[in-house]
Amino acid sequence: MAKNEIPTLSDLFRERFFIDDPETAYLDGNSLGRLPLATRDILNQVIQEQWGRELIRSWNQHWLPLTLRIREKIAKLIGAETDEVLVGDSTSVNLFKLAQACLDTFAPGSKVLSDSTNFPSDLYILQGLCARTSGRVVLNQFDLSHCSTEEIENSLVQQMTQSTKLVVLSHVHYQSGYLFSMERLNSRAREIGAKVIWDVSHSVGALPIDVRKSDCDMLVGCCYKYLNGGPGAPAFLYLRRELQSQLRNPIQGWFGAADPFAFSDIYQPQHGIEQFAVGTPCVLSMAAIEPGVDLVLEAGVAQIRTRSLELTDRFIEGLESIPNVFGYSLVTPRGKDHRGSHVSVRHEHAWQITQSLIHDFKVIPDYREPSMIRFGITPLYTNETDIERAVTALRRAVGERTYENYSREKRGVT
Ligand SMILES: Cc1ncc(COP(=O)(O)O)c(C=O)c1O
Repeated sequence: MAKNEIPTLSDLFRERFFIDDPETAYLDGNSLGRLPLATRDILNQVIQEQWGRELIRSWNQHWLPLTLRIREKIAKLIGAETDEVLVGDSTSVNLFKLAQACLDTFAPGSKVLSDSTNFPSDLYILQGLCARTSGRVVLNQFDLSHCSTEEIENSLVQQMTQSTKLVVLSHVHYQSGYLFSMERLNSRAREIGAKVIWDVSHSVGALPIDVRKSDCDMLVGCCYKYLNGGPGAPAFLYLRRELQSQLRNPIQGWFGAADPFAFSDIYQPQHGIEQFAVGTPCVLSMAAIEPGVDLVLEAGVAQIRTRSLELTDRFIEGLESIPNVFGYSLVTPRGKDHRGSHVSVRHEHAWQITQSLIHDFKVIPDYREPSMIRFGITPLYTNETDIERAVTALRRAVGERTYENYSREKRGVT
């Protein structure tokens, strides 16, 4: 950083992450965030002191307060109250619980609306739930893939008819990075008496979410992307207070029961959000979430968003400087109001190019069907050098045909 320059977020926060090779441009924080240094220390302490030494006594002293603290922090990130947020299970399981709870209240002929290119796990959950209603509730997987950026929301609004009772969408689309307007779609849902579950996996920690301002009913979201909570970190759900007495968790586990340690043989749900808990919290993974969330809170989501837009702009400009004959096209909307924090690029040889970026140029994005390379911008550690490396690597992988050294066959996690 030059003297007198205002430090960027990565100037301030990058060194608080474990980075063993500064030459690697890690642009996959939208899939798995980097390891915060504090997480290593906290996990060591939880393992050695709390589990190793204090054993079962740690539940009261450390682990029950830990789950509450993380709920408070995630609630702060999304503008909710602590008693509207629960941390645990996976995003998929949380979607199952909330969507089934809604379906249980629907009359025959009700419809669930989602987008046919929504994250597959979300679609699978909805397909499974609707299939079990024997036709009482039908899923409308509306195809948005032919809509222009300008048409997407209008087309969805038109699909939201009187029989639509539940809408399930991702706030930021996992492929294109399209950012939906929560306000607009929630407001339309309200007009027709539908509820909305937003999957905020690709937006929480990357851009501001305010459940009150946006009038949100329900959210599910993931902690291992922009919250840097570690592989398979527990997810969270938000359920607005007014709905908590109307919906019942379909998975009746002891942690959602009125008094788990009464060991009653008849299930009685707890009041409020607590009934959406199921089993014992995954303490080690839960402990790993806190430092990542703390870093996001310390930096401020508004600042993260400003910087993310600067860096995504820079990446898009770099991409557009590559001659058209190289075959790249931008998938992500150019407009800032419709863009999350990753940029997707389409290319006929996207899989092979991704391999070349990783192995020849030390640039780590990920690959998504069909023919897309995603570049995730995480402003706490992504900087201009990473962006420039990525743009140069994209140019060279095709210009020097390095991608041709890689098989077309797709294998493993990407
Ligand atoms: C948008 C979205 N929803 C849901 C999931 C699945 O999350 P989980 O594995 O926690 O169920 C993912 C995973 O990447 C995702 O990107």
